[in-house]
Amino acid sequence: MAGGVSWEPWPAGRLLVAEGRRLPRGFFITFEGPEGGGKSIQSRSLAAFLESQDFAVLWTREPGGTDLGREVRRLLFDFSSVLDPWAEVFLFLADRAQHVATKIRPALEQGFIVICDRFTDSTLAYQGYGRGLPLERLQALNALATGHLKPDLTLLLDVDVETGLRRRRSTEELNNFDRRSLEFHRRVRQGYLHLATQEPERWVLCRADASVDEVQQCIREAVMHRLQSLLQSATSP
Ligand code: TYD
Repeated sequence: MAGGVSWEPWPAGRLLVAEGRRLPRGFFITFEGPEGGGKSIQSRSLAAFLESQDFAVLWTREPGGTDLGREVRRLLFDFSSVLDPWAEVFLFLADRAQHVATKIRPALEQGFIVICDRFTDSTLAYQGYGRGLPLERLQALNALATGHLKPDLTLLLDVDVETGLRRRRSTEELNNFDRRSLEFHRRVRQGYLHLATQEPERWVLCRADASVDEVQQCIREAVMHRLQSLLQSATSP
């Protein structure tokens, strides 16, 4: 196993909350990127790793991190081919508002590391860059839905669009979002790269066309680096 990564992703059926050491103000990590970058498996593997380091961890995702969110997710997938772009935005935002209010913020307040597979930047990348809605409006709506909550760290798993979609097709059936045009997915990817350059202190890019272990190594290094600084500043007088 390259670089000493122990490969133990949290299985989908398992309770995704682990008790452990609490941080003074919690720590919020989001995973973003185009299709086929392996966010789901990589984010779960990070959760398992942090649990093994005795941190309190919550793993969750959007859309679908709450009971309401699971219904919203079903609506989004069932109606995706006919959804007006703003109707689509408001469905994602309804999911997000409920998710932040009932899961993410309470966990952060209790000192958990919260790992979320997709968050506000997905709306900017997909509905903004992808579907062409104005970014400033989407940013304002994101702020409204989240009460201005921002991730402490965002990991961008970047993969070129053809490779990502090919990978996706080899592991699961494509959903209606995946089936949008190549041009749409290219705009989404470019959008992510642009967002990452605008806030370099928040974003870390890991190339997702590397091996699964190498990608996980990149992720763990970025996370542990931030956590160590956080723990040091919390203990220094
Ligand atoms: P999902 O099956 O969860 O895919 P992935 O594994 O890529 O996360 O599908 C979620 C889809 O919803 C994905 O294509 C991205 C899209 N999405 C948006 O368009 N806007 C958003 O705000 C969010 C959270 C997701």
